[in-house]
Amino acid sequence: MTTIGFIGSGRIGGALAQLAVAAGHDVVLSNSREPQSLRELVARLGSRSHAASAAEAAAAADLVVVTIPIRAYRQTPVEPLRGRVVIDTLNYDPARQGAVPEIEASDIPPHLLLQAHLPDAYVVKAFNTVFFQHLPQLARQAGAPDRSAVPIAGDHAPAKTAVAALIDSLGFDAYDVGPLAESRRFAPGTPAQLAYLNPDGMFAAPARPASAADLAALLDKAN
Ligand SMILES: NC(=O)c1ccc[n+]([C@@H]2O[C@H](COP(=O)([O-])OP(=O)(O)OC[C@H]3O[C@@H](n4cnc5c(N)ncnc54)[C@H](OP(=O)(O)O)[C@@H]3O)[C@@H](O)[C@H]2O)c1
Repeated sequence: MTTIGFIGSGRIGGALAQLAVAAGHDVVLSNSREPQSLRELVARLGSRSHAASAAEAAAAADLVVVTIPIRAYRQTPVEPLRGRVVIDTLNYDPARQGAVPEIEASDIPPHLLLQAHLPDAYVVKAFNTVFFQHLPQLARQAGAPDRSAVPIAGDHAPAKTAVAALIDSLGFDAYDVGPLAESRRFAPGTPAQLAYLNPDGMFAAPARPASAADLAALLDKAN
């Protein structure tokens, strides 16, 4: 069993936390406000969950998911994440979530931003390709013929192994795309972001499972 800390407990954080408690993990949730503001989510998730500050969620966990609007990335606590494995779900969508000046100035690409902010953490990009409502729809037991794969990328092999084990427990296969820089191949605007979308209905329609082979074909389309 693993304790998973969440910095951000909104749509993606809440959906991943739900899968995590169902898999028998403990979760520590946080947002930008006081822990009490998360009482409804904690009540829904049950006794394996509790709320804390972002720094406490980072410090208490074996593995931390940062899943906040990217414009707020500087508020991710640095010190408690030193030497820790961090899952980065962040996508850059300036129209909906606000612009980040250093990205707009091309000082750094969006997919490397969190790692640059957390130079001593082992950041693994994952779950940034799945619409939050599709997470529970796609999760399957290991060995299910229609189990989906999710792309991951990171620079630290043991961190990727830990993240892949967590992903497996949540109901997905991890598909290792390579170093963190390669996560550009499943960033917004790439074919891999559409992997689980039903061609008939877009986001509102039920998700379409995607295997590792399906993902590989989509990733190959991004240079
Ligand atoms: N939604 C999706 O389907 C989806 C899919 C793939 C990737 N993503 C990416 O995943 C990230 C999260 O998306 P989301 O849709 O889950 O967002 P969301 O529903 O808006 O939730 C964001 C969460 O982050 C918290 N937060 C904001 N600033 C914070 C801070 N400084 N410290 C700690 N927590 C903070 C918010 O808490 P407050 O309520 O206190 O502000 C909220 O709990 C985004 O970067 C998005 O691009 C989303």
